[in-house]
Amino acid sequence: MANKELIEKIRKLKKEKNAVCLVHNYQTPDIYEIADYIGDSLDLSQAAARTDADIIVFCGVDFMAESAKILSPEKKVLHPNRQAMCPMAHMVTPIALREKKKQYPDAEVACYVNTTTDIKAESDICTTSANAVDIVNSVKKDHIIFVPDRNLGQYAQSQTSKKIILWDGYCYVHDKISLESAKRAKALYPNAELIAHPECRLEVLNRADAVCSTSQMLTYAKKSHAKEFIVATEEGMVKRLEREFPLKKFHAIGGICTQMKEITLHNVCESLEKEQFEIELDENLRKKAKIALDRMLEIRKKK
Ligand code: 13P
Ligand code: SF4
Repeated sequence: MANKELIEKIRKLKKEKNAVCLVHNYQTPDIYEIADYIGDSLDLSQAAARTDADIIVFCGVDFMAESAKILSPEKKVLHPNRQAMCPMAHMVTPIALREKKKQYPDAEVACYVNTTTDIKAESDICTTSANAVDIVNSVKKDHIIFVPDRNLGQYAQSQTSKKIILWDGYCYVHDKISLESAKRAKALYPNAELIAHPECRLEVLNRADAVCSTSQMLTYAKKSHAKEFIVATEEGMVKRLEREFPLKKFHAIGGICTQMKEITLHNVCESLEKEQFEIELDENLRKKAKIALDRMLEIRKKK
């Protein structure tokens, strides 16, 4: 079936089943066409918490679909392709985290949203790339175990007086973006501003004009007077930025997240038709994980 037909079929199925498609910014432009909401992890978890649809089809990676289910247990949450898994989210295990907690009994645990449900259940509070610094500063204790992204943890450490105990996880896409490639791009496009995702290494972030979550990049590109930007994140973000700001220029210096691209129009259509693959969580774990997510969302509301 051609893309146009698939898009029409998906739109029809969404209406029939009272379903919504929540789409992460890194998805491909054909997936944007069937989106009810496109955003970063924070936006999408908020959208999942407030939707009155019966079915949520999550076009993103596993932890995002799980977060939607944690927040909206009464909804059917579908993940169109089980292969769409964020490798970083699996770089921390509950056993290893419990060991770390024993080592630092006075520390609170802040987990990046890029974690599995059982890690959220072991954590005190959740963060996303959009709010990590605010979250760390909101925690009462002085010591914070931050899992799993060492780069985001280091960035938060550079912005706070709290003591952050780092984990050794990383995103293979962002960690590969080198200071050299940022400098080369700066030399090539001297009028461009460098916008960088906080999953990048600190040396890249220190050179950036702005450190942004994926959705914050859209806000920044809108308000900036610059006409050109070097984008240090997954390269699909450039398509998203170009779609919103066709008169501005965007240059990618990041590679592809192959897991994010496992979602296709074909598997979204099949997911809606067959109502597969449903996210199912242990209720006890889900409730515990929801505490960490709710705490994060509360802080956002208060701001
Ligand atoms: P955002 O929440 O900024 O969209 O980031 C999610 C992610 O996986 C980045 O690699
Ligand atoms: Fe995970 Fe990195 Fe892909 Fe984001 S870009 S989903 S952090 S692997």
